[in-house]
Amino acid sequence: MCGIVGYIGHKEAFPILIKGLKRLEYRGYDSAGVALLNKDLDLNVYKTKGKVKQLEAYCKGKDISGNIGIAHTRWATHGEPNDRNAHPHYSQSENLALIHNGIIENYLSIKKLLINEGYSFKSDTDTEVLVHLIEYVKNRYKLDLFDAVKRSLNFVVGAYAIGVIEKGNSDTLVAARKGSPLILGVGEGEFFLGSDATAIIEYTSNVIYLNDEEVAELRLGSSPKIRTLKDQEVNHEIKKIELALEDIEKGGYPHFMLKEIHEQPKSLEMCMNGRLNRELMEIKLSGITDNIERFRSAKRILITACGTSWHAGLIGKYLIEELCRIPVEVEVASELRYRYPVIEKDDILIPISQSGETADTLAAIELAKEQGAFIYGICNVVGSSIARATDSGTYTHAGPEIGVASTKAFTTQVAVLTMMALTLGKELGTISQERYKKTVQELSEITHKIEKILLLDKEIEKISTVFTYARNFMYLGRGYNYPVALEGALKLKEISYIHAEGYPAAEMKHGPIALIDDEMPIVVISPKVRIYDKVVSNVQEIKARKGKIIAIVNEGDVDVKKMADFCIEIPSTDECLTPLLTVIPLQILSYYIASIKGRDVDQPRNLAKSVTVE
Ligand code: F6R
Repeated sequence: MCGIVGYIGHKEAFPILIKGLKRLEYRGYDSAGVALLNKDLDLNVYKTKGKVKQLEAYCKGKDISGNIGIAHTRWATHGEPNDRNAHPHYSQSENLALIHNGIIENYLSIKKLLINEGYSFKSDTDTEVLVHLIEYVKNRYKLDLFDAVKRSLNFVVGAYAIGVIEKGNSDTLVAARKGSPLILGVGEGEFFLGSDATAIIEYTSNVIYLNDEEVAELRLGSSPKIRTLKDQEVNHEIKKIELALEDIEKGGYPHFMLKEIHEQPKSLEMCMNGRLNRELMEIKLSGITDNIERFRSAKRILITACGTSWHAGLIGKYLIEELCRIPVEVEVASELRYRYPVIEKDDILIPISQSGETADTLAAIELAKEQGAFIYGICNVVGSSIARATDSGTYTHAGPEIGVASTKAFTTQVAVLTMMALTLGKELGTISQERYKKTVQELSEITHKIEKILLLDKEIEKISTVFTYARNFMYLGRGYNYPVALEGALKLKEISYIHAEGYPAAEMKHGPIALIDDEMPIVVISPKVRIYDKVVSNVQEIKARKGKIIAIVNEGDVDVKKMADFCIEIPSTDECLTPLLTVIPLQILSYYIASIKGRDVDQPRNLAKSVTVE
């Protein structure tokens, strides 16, 4: 949800800002803009609807010089995506320029006040009130930029990560955050701002994570000055980020999504590294063992997340209830946060998030915290807001996920949930030693099996070409593979724009079966597990209605294969691990359907990777 980047130093700011925006484009790509202070200390703002590439083209031939600048890539909330609503926004006098990620909830009342003071507005955004308000406060109280930002933000309700620069002031960049992510990069005689580390990793790995309600002044020649909105001094230690440049580049693949699908054996190995011991065939998850008494006394576990992470959470319920016998509820965070849920002190909340910045998931954490629950997070991005808001947790270590459609984040989340359930089940004595060893053994072989499935890439591409005509798809699965059906449908709709529904296979006859005709593709996930025979009956019901069946089956399958139009054969594994395998062909299928249809696979319309607004 919007990416922001800033630079102050001795280099030309424009190329650094543009490169940073390209890295952050996954956060939104409705419009892009840049503000620069040139050598005469004039403040130039260039902005345009569309992607960063369009901004670059728009800036050709313009004065893009300057050693200080801020830039923004937008995911529209207030105001349609157009040039006018693009950031940066000028203040009334055009002396200030500001970029913002977040939502200002009380913008209407501030706007009214400013209009009464003679301010006029050029955009439909909530953001524009911020820059006018800062200018108003600055002039009225005769403050410098840093103090004006600090004082102004005390009037603001909502979420923000902002960067502000000022005409005539060549050595100061001011930034602040509340509820939206922002890091400060500390280089040699230069500073950077970024919504995340990918924007600045080329230049420095030394960063400061700003906390909520903190304002920073980046001034050349001195260390960053940071104070809270209540004017208390803050001293943050500089942290090192571990991120390699190749992790955030396509590495020869046409899209990040395809690269990330193929990276899954590696990302799962990173996820299990130091946790799964292949010699002793056991799992050590310190987050669980360090908090074992908390888990032992838990009456209930609540899992909350959004989108794909919610699907991983649903699999977590199957795993934890089967292996640990603790009741588990799973709820999308946007619902949990706004109803009046019963959450007790003995409950454990497990929020799951790739980005660690999802606004609804963060709000659900705060709610559960207030009610005394223990918060155990599953997160990919180290140091993210959700990671910092939890009491304890496990990182997925999937590496940066840049394609908007989540792939490797999902499988690593499921792997963490599996390791948690196995560790906990062993500690609580709810699984036999034999079952534990067998499942750990199977888990240790999972990445080889995924490698085998990835070799089916071309075969799945061929199947995809048959179904680009479809306007609807259905995905069916049962047990552990019901959430995989939901995930398969989500992957297809978000990147190909084909409508798709995921259903528990047996629910089909309670309604959706009416949709089946000889044009309807139905993806059936039917590995040979406990309820395989039941799924076979469901496939028969589809066949009788002439639906086109694409089946995910185990190697050597006979019954489903007889009825399916297309079969994708995958290796078998322990039932509770099947989602780690069955989801892979579904990711590949949606990737090819979308790319053959010419869709923008990595940046599908209307979406953004990190949903920092509710
Ligand atoms: C789908 C997708 C989204 C995210 C959701 C939660 O491919 O990526 O549905 O899963 O927005 O995001 P995180 O996991 O970052 O909280």
